[in-house]
Amino acid sequence: MTQSEVYKHPHYYALGYRWNTDVECDFIESCLKQYGPPGASKLLDIGCGSGRHLLELAKRNYRMTGVDLSPEMIAYVAEEAKREQRSVTVSVDDLRRLTITGTFDAAFCFMDTFRFLLTNDEIKAHFQAVAKRLAPGGLYLLDFWVPRQWDQVGSEIHQWEQTADDTTVRVFYLQHPETIDPITQTFEDELVFEVQEDGRTQEIRGGRTRTRLILPQEFAVLVEHSGVFELLGTHGEFDLATPFTHDSLSWRMISVLRKR
Ligand SMILES: C[S@@+](CC[C@H](N)C(=O)[O-])C[C@H]1O[C@@H](n2cnc3c(N)ncnc32)[C@H](O)[C@@H]1O
Repeated sequence: MTQSEVYKHPHYYALGYRWNTDVECDFIESCLKQYGPPGASKLLDIGCGSGRHLLELAKRNYRMTGVDLSPEMIAYVAEEAKREQRSVTVSVDDLRRLTITGTFDAAFCFMDTFRFLLTNDEIKAHFQAVAKRLAPGGLYLLDFWVPRQWDQVGSEIHQWEQTADDTTVRVFYLQHPETIDPITQTFEDELVFEVQEDGRTQEIRGGRTRTRLILPQEFAVLVEHSGVFELLGTHGEFDLATPFTHDSLSWRMISVLRKR
């Protein structure tokens, strides 16, 4: 797997992806309240990126640990935590073979990061590695893209922009349908940042990354087959009252798992 070039630019990532962070953190707290181990306080952010959830939850007094494959992201989170005078633990780690130690009340893996697990074996091994790090009854929350329509598999484009001070980051998420491999259910997708800053525009092309298409029914089977989690629910928004349905406007399915 080639790591997207955009993950070497945590500062722009943090701006481009800052939308909805409070809502997503509220969702984590709702899940803990509804399903979590009583008094849950220790959380693990897998693929934490620029730390948008990790830093917000640290502010909400959770004890936060984050891992990510990108050293640039990890350095940025450490720096931001120091600037905000929060004590957090972060390290470079790979979600395909987690080496982190410790016990957590819940873990989460947000913004489609789960689709970097390309095979059923990788997904199953990942579930087992995460479950090992969770306290009894610990939760695992994750989301991933699912096609809205069968004829759109591997051809959706999503874009949005965020502005702060004099900087605008426009994010393009592109899929390349000609790269679909129907046997492995993988295809190449790409992130592109268009950054406007100080009157100049630069484009940062992430480069193509092969990712997995995971469908809701097979996900349920993979969870069951892992033997370590039960699937408590799937949601179309970061809202426990919004189930994932075929007419959902969401482009991501958000799943709530609990350790058996
Ligand atoms: C789309 S970002 C999501 C970041 C964060 N979870 C969020 O919601 O903003 C994907 C992140 O996953 C990281 N990543 C990619 N492959 C990974 C792997 N194999 N193990 C751990 N992190 C990985 C990238 O460096 C990037 O920070």
